[in-house]
Order: sequence, then structure tokens, then C-alpha cells
Amino acid sequence: MQGFSEAHIARFENVGLRYGLGPEVLQDVTFSLATGSFHFLVGESGAGKSSLLKLLYLALKPSRGIISLFGRDIATLPRHELPALRRQIGVVFQEFRLLEHLSTFDNVALPLRVAGVKEVDINRHVAELLEWVGLKDHMKARPPTLSGGQQQRVSIARAVIARPKILLADEPTGNVDDRMALRLMHLFEELNRLGTTIVIATHNMSLVDGLGYPIMRLDDGHFSLIEGSGNRSPTRERRELRESARTAAAARRRRPTLDTDDADSEPPGIENFL
Ligand SMILES: Nc1ncnc2c1ncn2[C@@H]1O[C@H](COP(=O)(O)OP(=O)(O)OP(=O)(O)O)[C@@H](O)[C@H]1O
Ligand SMILES: [Mg+2]
Repeated sequence: MQGFSEAHIARFENVGLRYGLGPEVLQDVTFSLATGSFHFLVGESGAGKSSLLKLLYLALKPSRGIISLFGRDIATLPRHELPALRRQIGVVFQEFRLLEHLSTFDNVALPLRVAGVKEVDINRHVAELLEWVGLKDHMKARPPTLSGGQQQRVSIARAVIARPKILLADEPTGNVDDRMALRLMHLFEELNRLGTTIVIATHNMSLVDGLGYPIMRLDDGHFSLIEGSGNRSPTRERRELRESARTAAAARRRRPTLDTDDADSEPPGIENFL
């Protein structure tokens, strides 16, 4: 794990998945995810998006084929190495999976506490990130008292707070309005700029079309890759990332207020806490 420097963070080779004795819901899925890349994952409801993400975050094992993650074949990975591997993966679950007995703050702080970060640093990072996602007035609230969109943002904050090597987000903007969806996409882009590989499953085609990243597509369990206008070569990727950071900074200056929920101002420099 440590010192991992593979060009590809994940590889699928002829992967098939069935639940129990049912039909294959993923068939012959083959792809490589370049380290530092950004992909959307699209497909109709039931096409297999969540299933593919579950394979990537090691919640399921494939029925056939080979999956390697961080350069390791997961079929031969010793069980005791799994937790360390999983800690490198940030997941935004389609159904949030927040801990209901913990406050918003403590839900988001969890990955940092597991990683042994000092409380003083946790307090600062978590508060800044929650402010950025528009939840600074809800830090003490427990998830059941929050709206769906607010819970979704807690779940996103928890997934990104420890700067995972790979972020897998399942419909992360399904419960928020268009402005907040763009804002969250900007958060993912910043995280990507800082080196995290990103896969976002979404039905929101205006986000997908607007941002121009490559698209992983599932049609009834069959996989295809559609090149976007972004990250095709490392040089181009770096240039485009620099440009997108500049554009984002300019957009931040042009857009001083956001009237979504309580996200009425955007603190500068989210890379400070990401
Ligand atoms: N736990 C399960 N047991 C049996 N079948 C399942 C299970 N989870 C998913 N499936 C089946 O696998 C297929 C793919 O489901 P999956 O949840 O991956 O789709 P999806 O693309 O994420 O859909 P959505 O856009 O609605 O979230 C569907 O036919 C679904 O019924
Ligand atoms: Mg799904």
C-alpha cells in the first residue's frame, strides 16, 4: 500500500457479477482506471452502477474475472490487509449510511479519528468542510433530523475529509438542487486536482455533459467507455486541471453568494482542509 505508484489504481478484467443464483448483473467488464483520473458512471436504473462501485470498494467479490486495486489482486489479498486498503477508499453511498446516534460533526470526524489525527486538527478541518458544504449551523444535529440533501452533504464530507486515494460516489447529487450539485462537483474536482481518483455514478446528464470527463457506461450489465474532453493524456490532464482550477477560482470570485440552504458564502481555498 505505502509508496503505491501504479499508473492504474484499479483494473477489471472480464469481471462478472451475479447475486446468489440470479443472472449476471455485470458481464465481462474490463477497464483500467488511471491514477488521478475523473470518470462519470452512467446507465439506467438497474444497469449495475451501484454493483460496480460495490466491487470497487470491496463490499462484493466478483463471480468471475480479476479485479486489482492499488496494484494488488484482490482475490489473493490477505484478510488482515483489507482494512488498511479500505481506508484509502472514500465512499459516498447511495443511501448515505450515516451513523444516526452521532452528530453531523462526529460522523464527518470519524475517518480522521480512525486515522489518529489530533482533535485540535479534527475540529478545524471538520468545521471548515462543513461550512463549505453549507452545514455549519447543523454540526450538532443528528442525521435523522436533517433533510435528504443535508444528509447527502454529510455523507460527502465524511467521504472526502481524509483525502482518500480513490473516491467512489453513488448518486452524490441526487438529493440537492442544481446549484448545490455544481458546488459539490467543484469539491470533487478540487479533490481530484489534489490527486484523488474519482468515479461518480449519476443520472444527472447535465452535469455529465457540462463537465466533459470520460464516461463509463453500463447498459444492462454491459460496460463501455466514452472518452470525454478531459484527462486523456497526462500533459493535457495537467493543463486542463490547471485551467479548471483557474476557471473555478474565477467562478468563485464571480459568484460571491450562493443561496442554497445555509451555504450563503464560500470560504476561499478548500484545499486548505482537503
Ligand atoms: N442485493 C441484491 N440482490 C439481488 N439482486 C440485486 C442486489 N442488488 C442489486 N441487484 C440487481 O442487480 C442489478 C443492478 O443493480 P444496481 O443496484 O447495481 O443498479 P444501479 O445501476 O445502481 O441502479 P439505480 O440507478 O437504480 O441505483 C439490478 O437488476 C438489481 O435488481
Ligand atoms: Mg444504484
